[in-house]
Amino acid sequence: MGKLDVFLLQLFFCTIVNTGSGSHSLWAFATYIIGETSFPEYTIVEMLDDVQVIYYDSNDKHTVYRGHNTTHKINSNEIPDRTYLFEDIYHRMKERSYDYKRRFNHTEGIQVQQSMGGCEMLDNGDPALIMMKDIFNAISVDHAIFYNITHYTYDPGKLLLGWDGIRQAVERSLVENVYLPLCIKSLKAWLKREKNVVMRKVAPRLRLIKKDVSGGLRVTCLAFGFYPRHINLTLLRDGQPVAEQELTGGEVLPSGDGTYQMRKSLEVSTKELMERHQYSCTASHLSLDNKLDVSWKSGAERVHLSILSALLVIVLIVILLGISICLARRRHRLTDNFTTCKR
Ligand SMILES: *[C@@H]1O[C@H](CO)[C@@H](O)[C@H](O)[C@H]1NC(C)=O
Ligand SMILES: *[C@@H]1O[C@H](CO)[C@@H](O)[C@H](O)[C@H]1NC(C)=O
Ligand SMILES: *[C@@H]1O[C@H](CO)[C@@H](O)[C@H](O)[C@H]1NC(C)=O
Ligand SMILES: *[C@@H]1O[C@H](CO)[C@@H](O)[C@H](O)[C@H]1NC(C)=O
Repeated sequence: MGKLDVFLLQLFFCTIVNTGSGSHSLWAFATYIIGETSFPEYTIVEMLDDVQVIYYDSNDKHTVYRGHNTTHKINSNEIPDRTYLFEDIYHRMKERSYDYKRRFNHTEGIQVQQSMGGCEMLDNGDPALIMMKDIFNAISVDHAIFYNITHYTYDPGKLLLGWDGIRQAVERSLVENVYLPLCIKSLKAWLKREKNVVMRKVAPRLRLIKKDVSGGLRVTCLAFGFYPRHINLTLLRDGQPVAEQELTGGEVLPSGDGTYQMRKSLEVSTKELMERHQYSCTASHLSLDNKLDVSWKSGAERVHLSILSALLVIVLIVILLGISICLARRRHRLTDNFTTCKR
């Protein structure tokens, strides 16, 4: 994966956060760049959930299929060939860039336009959402269309003149009759192809980690090795969920092996540690019928620990004493032998 891909994917994950568990999505992310860079002028990356499935750029001008299933060659009966659509977006972005140039008096420097669009589908096959969004120079969202099957929302944006009634109607009809069915069809085909990866369920493992920090202890709940990425992780004190603002962490992070991890940490003061509290952590995940949980009691463990360390010290003293007695005896014997030889 090139640098640009990685950059796009990061942006992508920052943007798409609302995909719930029990649904799958297909999102295309297009980038159009004007100015001196090492990237192609236009690139499009398409993602099925978190798997990159398509790459297209204006240099090579053909759709490259990616993904994990390499057993069959892809034909357009299986997955609709949308190369023309990618080209269409390219021309649309190119056209817009003239408008932006005029609007901002842009003559030099780098100009970046991003456009994302895609659909979500529930596990039962019902389409759930389609969305398109344009972003200019990473700061402003300009012009967005949301269509959640029952409601159609159009936001003309602030940068350029909004579309008039007729153009809006045309766009809406395109969304409903072309983009949505095409997106859902492609999504279903990709799901079938990549089922071993995106439909797999891997249960999280859960750990409660305690670490000494200045002024107390940091209790961290770590869930790792799970797939898909949606997880509910809750830290509880005496059975009550700890308020989110008391916690740090909480982002889902890729582990690099195709699974995800999440941690949530709580700082517990020394004073609080003296008291008896039960800290526990529960996780619910698509792969689990029941919640997973681990817990730990403060107060009790401290006492436990001090007894344990006292014991350890005693054992150590005994060992040290033993060693020094042994050494003393040995030295004694050695000196005896030495004197014997000399004699
Ligand atoms: C755009 O640039 C031209 C020429 O440099 C200048 O005359 C004009 O005032 C600028 N317009 C804006 C809106 O900055
Ligand atoms: C679609 O959006 C509208 C307005 O935000 C909301 O009232 C409606 O419940 C949504 N429908 C679905 C199916 O999510
Ligand atoms: C690969 O894709 C084909 C065609 O969609 C599908 O029939 C097959 O089960 C997939 N193989 C794996 C290992 O998922
Ligand atoms: C997480 O909690 C929310 C709200 O209670 C629920 O809708 C969702 O299904 C849960 N997700 C998982 C993976 O358990």
